Amino acid sequence: MNSHFIFVPYLAFFLVGLFACQGAAFGSEADKVKWDKKFSKEDYAYGKEPLPFLKENVDLLKKGRALDIAAGEGRNAVFLAQQGFAVDALDISAVGLVKATSLAKVKGVEENLKTVEADLDTYLFPKDSYDTIIMVNFTDRKMTQQIVHALKDGGTFLYAARTLDFTRKRGKKFNPDYLWETNEVLRHFGEHFTVIKYEENPNDPQSRVFFIGIKKSGVK
Ligand SMILES: C[S@@+](CC[C@H](N)C(=O)[O-])C[C@H]1O[C@@H](n2cnc3c(N)ncnc32)[C@H](O)[C@@H]1O
Repeated sequence: MNSHFIFVPYLAFFLVGLFACQGAAFGSEADKVKWDKKFSKEDYAYGKEPLPFLKENVDLLKKGRALDIAAGEGRNAVFLAQQGFAVDALDISAVGLVKATSLAKVKGVEENLKTVEADLDTYLFPKDSYDTIIMVNFTDRKMTQQIVHALKDGGTFLYAARTLDFTRKRGKKFNPDYLWETNEVLRHFGEHFTVIKYEENPNDPQSRVFFIGIKKSGVK
């Protein structure tokens, strides 16, 4: 048999596979597509007001340079900019960050807000650079070392997420990798931070957990 005839089915298989992949995205690229789509509506998916826990406790945060990890459309980053912080709003979604800049302009604080379009799976934080870091509704346990590395000594870290009760007790659909066991946040971040505020209430219908800590001196 002519070798060309043997090769043809393999080539066809390869081409079908290649075209099938054209519209698909994987890993971080898939996240970017998903979040860009979610943020492409005119409304702000999470609103324009900051997380109440941030608003209520902003005075506990060390003033200066701040980083908002996974800032989305910027509701929390813009609030910090309004309080006089020089904020880096980091996110993978360019669409979200454009909306963050618009919100900062509306509030008259665009000079205090810089956007950083980056993938947290690969981005390396600058060392000893921030007085405060916040991370709201984004969970990646592997990132703690980077957060510690990027904070100056005595810098503060504010975190908000949900516990596993969100799915276990309340039956909500959510990827369990992004949820925490009871008091796990306290143990996890307590290693690197002196805890100054911790809230976790098993009766909270939203199963939220809130943390603020000061980086322990000498911790790298
Ligand atoms: C639930 S939203 C939280 C937005 C914001 N912190 C807030 O509370 O309004 C999660 C954010 O994580 C961002 N994100 C997801 N994967 C990411 C990645 N690999 N790198 C950077 N940002 C990512 C999304 O684009 C989205 O803005």
